[in-house]
Amino acid sequence: MSTETPAEIDRVLLSEEQLKQRVSEMAAQVNADYAGEDLLLVGVLKGAMMIMADLSRELDGSVEIDWMAVSSYGAGNTSSGVVRILKDLDTNLDGRHVLIVEDVLDSGLTLRWLVRSLQARQPASLEILTLLRKPEAVRNKVDVRYVGFDIENDFVVGYGMDHNQHYRNLRYIGALKPL
Ligand code: PRP
Repeated sequence: MSTETPAEIDRVLLSEEQLKQRVSEMAAQVNADYAGEDLLLVGVLKGAMMIMADLSRELDGSVEIDWMAVSSYGAGNTSSGVVRILKDLDTNLDGRHVLIVEDVLDSGLTLRWLVRSLQARQPASLEILTLLRKPEAVRNKVDVRYVGFDIENDFVVGYGMDHNQHYRNLRYIGALKPL
């Protein structure tokens, strides 16, 4: 397999080893916090594919996994906070312990909307885990229980995240060269 960095990638932000290490640490926290509970992981497609696969395999016992696909109305890469559900959950959340699994909180507006929407379905608990968080999400005070890495405002790709649907398969997270 080629280990070359594609030309559009400016630099590697987080290596495969750094990701593996941090995902293990987050999984240990989740294992401790939900010990003895029935946990439902809700992944947000498509970016959360890698973090979901790696995190879930480090969790104790059996967890359930379900997926949502949402689309945010906005100009270009800017999130507007107005979200449309493209694929809803198959699972009833009533009385469940739910952990939303995300790849990146950019403005945080998608998650803010999602939490409100899922809260209305009366889960026993609802928390967020995100691998990456950008400064605007911090400013918007989105309440996140688990954060992998706080990063700068770079356009990041790899490990599930894309640019025009490319680069999701990279084993590391890279910053794209300025367009
Ligand atoms: C990304 C990411 C979050 C959202 C965050 O998804 O997975 O869901 O943007 O943006 P926000 O915090 O500014 O609301 P994207 O729309 O790129 O779709 P994808 O996961 O299919 O790549």
